[in-house]
Amino acid sequence: MGKVNRLKLAVLLSGSGSNLQAIIDACTAADYPAEIVLVFSNQPDAKGLDRARAAGIEAKSLGHKGYPGGREAYDHAVSELIAQSGADLVVLAGYLRLVSESFAKRWEGRLINIHPSLLPSFKGLHAHEQTIAAGVKYSGCSVHFVVPEMDAGPIIAQAVVPVLADDDAASLGQRILRQEHRIYPQVIRAIAEDRVVVGDDGRVTVHDSHSPDFAHINPVLARG
Ligand code: GRF
Repeated sequence: MGKVNRLKLAVLLSGSGSNLQAIIDACTAADYPAEIVLVFSNQPDAKGLDRARAAGIEAKSLGHKGYPGGREAYDHAVSELIAQSGADLVVLAGYLRLVSESFAKRWEGRLINIHPSLLPSFKGLHAHEQTIAAGVKYSGCSVHFVVPEMDAGPIIAQAVVPVLADDDAASLGQRILRQEHRIYPQVIRAIAEDRVVVGDDGRVTVHDSHSPDFAHINPVLARG
């Protein structure tokens, strides 16, 4: 049997790391084509770092507050850590920092993020509160390539959930998180298998997504 050539992931987070956990769990499957080589946080006490260490994954942190040289210098240091880890793909999973333009450019096409709304609606902080305040009846999550502009960039996959009349930010957030945990590992698999293509028009096609699961998150693919 040939050895699976796994895509190497660096996962960046600031908090709980439940998306990290979903990716760790996916990586335990023998046929999953990716592995995590680094978990990094700007918050030294992020719970996600403990999840990484518990799984035997290298976990590093660097506090951003008061970092000499400001955002550019900080992001350069983070970039160097990622480069040293040998990562092929940088996965933002609840990384609550705007990355600098040079960081976004350095990792362009190899940097993805998950956001808890159906982009391009409700970018930025407090997406759930924005969603409820707007009175929309559906929300969800989006996985996209990162570009310098916040929560913009080619959308790879989305999952939809209803917004219920008695939802608050926490209950809506939990419903969306369950979908995040489902689609993020699937998108990483698709990237690892070279099935994600960004067209000249900036629109993403995910090829050969025959899994019924994937069809649900990208309904256009269910038609054929
Ligand atoms: C998720 O809702 C994600 O969409 C957003 O930050 C949250 C991270 O949650 N970017 P967790 O740390 O993965 O539990």
